[in-house]
Amino acid sequence: MKIQIVSLFPNVFEPYFAASMLWKAQDKGIVEYSLIDLRRYGLGTRRTVDDTPYGGGDGMLLKPEPIIAAIEYAKSNDQDALVLLPTPRGKIYKQSDAKRLAKGGRGLIIVCARYEGYDERVTSWVDEQVCIGNYVLTGGELPAMIITDSIVRLLPGVLGGAASADIESFQDDDVSIEFAQYTRPSEFRGMKVPEVLQNGNHAEIDKWRNRQK
Ligand code: 6GU
Repeated sequence: MKIQIVSLFPNVFEPYFAASMLWKAQDKGIVEYSLIDLRRYGLGTRRTVDDTPYGGGDGMLLKPEPIIAAIEYAKSNDQDALVLLPTPRGKIYKQSDAKRLAKGGRGLIIVCARYEGYDERVTSWVDEQVCIGNYVLTGGELPAMIITDSIVRLLPGVLGGAASADIESFQDDDVSIEFAQYTRPSEFRGMKVPEVLQNGNHAEIDKWRNRQK
């Protein structure tokens, strides 16, 4: 799966994508990240990407031309890709979306907005506007990383245990709290690991875990 990210801050993705599971997924050829610097598509010698809003108001908006040029470039690499725009105005992004996008297998183009927002006309080039929670961030970079992470870990061959993506919390969109887990030592500063987990009786262990949910 090709994941192309359009951003004014492409560097911020590198350390995260270079770490652990996300890097392994790329190393195995399951996913291919590509960072597209929006500044490259800025206008004029100053590579301008923003401008003041019509009708007045605080702050600057991203102009449509650079964003659309970047999306068109990304599409030329992957014509079938789905274009996502993280925005606090979007629909809440859920585990079911991660599953759908992972299963669909279509490449993704994630467009990270900045400043106070973007010219509304860019939404004509966007398939889905997604919001990752009820709070406001300074840009779409963190949401893009979160969306990428949530999808990549579900791609076949990325997670270690075959079943591990299924036995976890957020099974669907209900926040089902995962059972508590313990590792060695069996006693730490007077706090003991529940006896049932140590006796190897898997029927009892399952019962205990289910009671915890
Ligand atoms: Cl997707 N973008 C921004 N800027 N803020 C957010 C968000 C997205 N989701 C929640 N807050």
